[in-house]
Amino acid sequence: AGNKTFTMIKPDAVENGHIGAILEQINTSGFRIVALKLTQMTKADAEEFYAVHNERPFFGELVEFMTRGPIVAAILEKENAVEDFRTLIGATNPADAAEGTIRKKYATSIGENAVHGSDSDENATIEGAFHFAGREMF
Ligand code: CMP
Repeated sequence: AGNKTFTMIKPDAVENGHIGAILEQINTSGFRIVALKLTQMTKADAEEFYAVHNERPFFGELVEFMTRGPIVAAILEKENAVEDFRTLIGATNPADAAEGTIRKKYATSIGENAVHGSDSDENATIEGAFHFAGREMF
C-alpha cells in the first residue's frame, strides 16, 4: 500500500540501454509497479504534459528531446512515494545529483536527465491519468 508517483524513463536512457537497470533499482528501492509501458509522446502530448514550462527558454528543446524516441511510462506505489522517488532519482542536473541516484548513474545533462518524477501527489494523479487508462493500472 501507500501513495503513488508517476515516472518516465526518458529517450536518452532508453537509447542508452538503461531500462532494465533503472526498473531494477526502482523495484529494489521498495516501489511497486502499478502500471508500465513503452510508448512515444507526440509533439502535442509533450506540449501538454510540460505546459507548466511553456514560457521557459528550454521548452522547445524539452519537447524535441521527449518526442525523439520511445519512453517507459510507469506508475509506482510506496509509502511517501513522491518524495522518496525524487530522492532516488537525484537532482535535475546530474552534476548536482547525489552518488548512487538514478540521474547520477544514467543522466547525461540537465536536459537529458534519464528520468522524470512527479513533484506532488496531485501531479502524480494527473500525469498517471495522462498516460494510462484505468484498466492499465493494477
Ligand atoms: P524534469 O524535472 O523531469 O521536467 C522538466 C524538465 O525540463 C527537466 O526534467 C529537464 O529535462 C528539463 N530542463 C530543466 N531545466 C533545463 C535546462 N536548464 N535546460 C534544458 N532542459 C531543462
